[in-house]
Amino acid sequence: MITELEKNTILIVDDEPIIRRSLRYNLQKAGYPCLEAENAQGALEQLKSQTIALAILDIKMPGMSGKELLSEIKKLYRNTAVVMSTSIIDHVTIVECMKDGAQDYIVKPFDQNDVLMRVERILRFREMEQRLESYHNNLEIKVNEQTKNLRRLFLAAVESLVNALESKDIYTAGHSHRTANIAANIGRELKLSEKEMETLHWGALLHDVGKISIDVGIQNKPSKLTPEEYKHVMTHANISANIVEPLVDKETVEVIRHHHDRYDGTGLGQIAVGQDIPLVARIIALADSVDAMMSDRPYRGAMPLEQVLTEINRCAGTQFDPQVIEAFVRLETKKLVAVS
Ligand SMILES: [Fe+2]
Repeated sequence: MITELEKNTILIVDDEPIIRRSLRYNLQKAGYPCLEAENAQGALEQLKSQTIALAILDIKMPGMSGKELLSEIKKLYRNTAVVMSTSIIDHVTIVECMKDGAQDYIVKPFDQNDVLMRVERILRFREMEQRLESYHNNLEIKVNEQTKNLRRLFLAAVESLVNALESKDIYTAGHSHRTANIAANIGRELKLSEKEMETLHWGALLHDVGKISIDVGIQNKPSKLTPEEYKHVMTHANISANIVEPLVDKETVEVIRHHHDRYDGTGLGQIAVGQDIPLVARIIALADSVDAMMSDRPYRGAMPLEQVLTEINRCAGTQFDPQVIEAFVRLETKKLVAVS
């Protein structure tokens, strides 16, 4: 653990012992722990073994110069402040050193009061910088925690919304979760990106929330819907998209809006056709229908898988995207092979 005293340790790097001694004497008298090095190599060894708050570097030294040492220090120990010391005021070199990260420069022979004042100012500034950095790091951690909490709350709210919707109809209980599972399997088979998989998940889970506004009598009607009733039911795609718009990103909203688009473009009020329909929406369209076919309905029982496969293949290129069907069939074939 670094003590308060060590926090202010100063390393004096100069090839002239008398310069090191005089600086050390005055800085220690002012309460700063000091270390010495007669060249860059010695300075780097000291820096490796302990925390140095401030290094005073002679610009002109045999071997590696103070300017070169400055670059090394800024590369390896960015929290160490650096003051250059020189006996000749060479403005070009001084400006270069400041550009390379030196905080200040002092000129020999030193005015010890001036040196102390500069050192104190730099160390105070360094401490403020470190406090600010630590504050930002803590803030980032807190923001991430809050984001996770908000997301958890959001997930719980979505679950409630979906469950409330599905409780209206015993036949569709669990439909959204099952659709999300089927869609996720197809998505993985089609090697969707992580972002697309997320859109697929939320799109599938929320695609039918707009049914909350559909007449329960029509939704649960045991016989075929009239064209007017069908039109009413189909308004749920747009209503779902509008409901979730403040909660999810725009890709998910669009996918939900398009989840009843037919691949051949003949759907009610449909604008996008074929590959222009978002791929994620084409996957949800198939997953939605597959789950509906494999579940009991008021007017029929659940269809066996073979019948479902026949039905979706019949609709390849008209209602559904053939490549999405192929992915689903591949998956089901793999399952059958695994069982046998
Ligand atoms: Fe739907």
